[in-house]
Amino acid sequence: MTTDYLVIGSGVAGLTFSVKIAEKFPDRTVVIVTKANEDESNTKYAQGGVAIVSNKEEDSFKKHIKDTLIAGDGLCDEDVVEMVVKEGPDRLEELLLWGANFDLNDTGKFDLGKEGGHSEYRIVHHKDITGYEIERALLTKAHQLPNISILPHHFAIDLVTNHHFKYADSEELSCYGAYVFNQKSGRIFTIKANSTLLASGGIGCVYGHTTNPVIATGDGIAMAYRAKARIEDMEFVQFHPTALYEAKGESSFLISEAVRGFGAYLRNKKGYRFMPDYDERAELASRDIVSQSIDSELKKSGESHVYLDCTHLDMDSFINHFPNIYKKCLEHHIDIKTDWIPVVPASHYLCGGIKVNNNGATTINNLFACGECSRTGLHGANRLASNSLLEALVYAHNIYKLHSKKEPESIKVNIPDWNDEGTIIPEEHILIKHNLKQLQALMRDYVGIVRSNKRLKRAIKHLDLIYEEVEDLYRESKITTSLCELRNMINVAHLIIRQSLDRTENKGGYFNIDNTKK
Ligand code: FAD
Ligand code: SIN
Repeated sequence: MTTDYLVIGSGVAGLTFSVKIAEKFPDRTVVIVTKANEDESNTKYAQGGVAIVSNKEEDSFKKHIKDTLIAGDGLCDEDVVEMVVKEGPDRLEELLLWGANFDLNDTGKFDLGKEGGHSEYRIVHHKDITGYEIERALLTKAHQLPNISILPHHFAIDLVTNHHFKYADSEELSCYGAYVFNQKSGRIFTIKANSTLLASGGIGCVYGHTTNPVIATGDGIAMAYRAKARIEDMEFVQFHPTALYEAKGESSFLISEAVRGFGAYLRNKKGYRFMPDYDERAELASRDIVSQSIDSELKKSGESHVYLDCTHLDMDSFINHFPNIYKKCLEHHIDIKTDWIPVVPASHYLCGGIKVNNNGATTINNLFACGECSRTGLHGANRLASNSLLEALVYAHNIYKLHSKKEPESIKVNIPDWNDEGTIIPEEHILIKHNLKQLQALMRDYVGIVRSNKRLKRAIKHLDLIYEEVEDLYRESKITTSLCELRNMINVAHLIIRQSLDRTENKGGYFNIDNTKK
């Protein structure tokens, strides 16, 4: 298959770029491959909203920039922060034009929420299902554009680069598309593209306990790493402080930070409200601080979780703002009106990823990255809440702007077909499952909120064993999605551990007990 633009992923990043470029150039083609149903993505589960300065009477770009820089703990790229924050209002306008709805208050202005690390109310939201609404609007718009083809249940296995063939007069790395696995037919084919965009989202599943859906296996980052793109800041995994605690079960429903913005308190089992002891902003300190404080409380008490207390809040307003959280808690026999919600931190977001410049360009020609898989410099050592959807919208626009200035080049290379000669169908699903469980246990136990050099070195040793076993399996087996995902998660885990060992200062979401410098 040949296309002008290949987009890997159908979350906010991939869809926004696709819609913009397809609308501007009806004669150019966009192919979106996405490994599950077309709407399945981290985007779909975003709750709190999008951080955007819309109320210029109370708020200002200056305040949003300052909050982002404070959360990032000195490691943000200040020019990037300024650019992203200032672009926010225009990108919001576009979303509105495409039909996304955001809640308004009685005066007809946006009903703004607040989250950790924000000095003002500035989170534009749609109830507590903002991501669902954005995904809905973007997919509706994409379906209206005949030059966009969405291929659901198509898994991108690897990028095609000069590694795959000899490209005579170029020493520089370039990307020519991707090898893609049709999960329904089992066929692997090549999509040749003038420009490829990785919009493949996050890595939450590398840790068993995560707020992310099962698609978040870091595929794009692993593909880019194997293709030798530059990957940075992988040590900055963000743990969300308040995932619903379930005694059994791995996947965790998120209790939005906006609930704390609405006035909820964190209490330990004894009922003590502990956050004021850790930070003067109490429950509204930035996410790294709240997660580390909960971790410390749990280590002191030996308990498995803490509680979020909403019982003192105005319940009618609460249910109006957070209907989904209210309903989900009831399904777990928790009535927020009277019961405290058991919560625990869970892996949530990756601040690092594939290094890109302001145009979303990676270190490989014709390869771009956008959204959670990218590392733009916006987040530094810790992302400010609700800056992620904003970042994806702004960078999708920048990548679109760059592409709209240039004619797509036609690529004249012969790309070899995927070669799976000599491979057998795996009968060893148990091996994949076993290694996945081991990987997740290792990341949880050795590479969690609080790290140490000893645990990180032990993690590398264990990971090497898993890596060898899985690479053997990969060489012998016909492709399956779960095998590729496991391989990708091992690559991502390796990057997180290695880059953790390289960091000698504790910053933002990175805390190592052996580091004395801050
Ligand atoms: P995603 O939305 O994750 O999309 C990735 C896409 O790539 C998916 O379609 C996936 O199927 C596809 N894909 C992945 N690998 C492959 C492959 N190998 N082949 C083909 N397709 C592939 N951020 C905020 O700013 N505000 C919030 O309120 C907020 N709340 C959140 C709540 C939850 C529970 C979670 C999990 C995250 C939240 N975030 C929030 C973070 C934010 O939702 C994500 O960072 C953002 O949506 C990422 O968008 P994306 O387009 O980069 O990736
Ligand atoms: C939340 O609603 O707490 C998630 C916000 C975010 O991840 O930005």
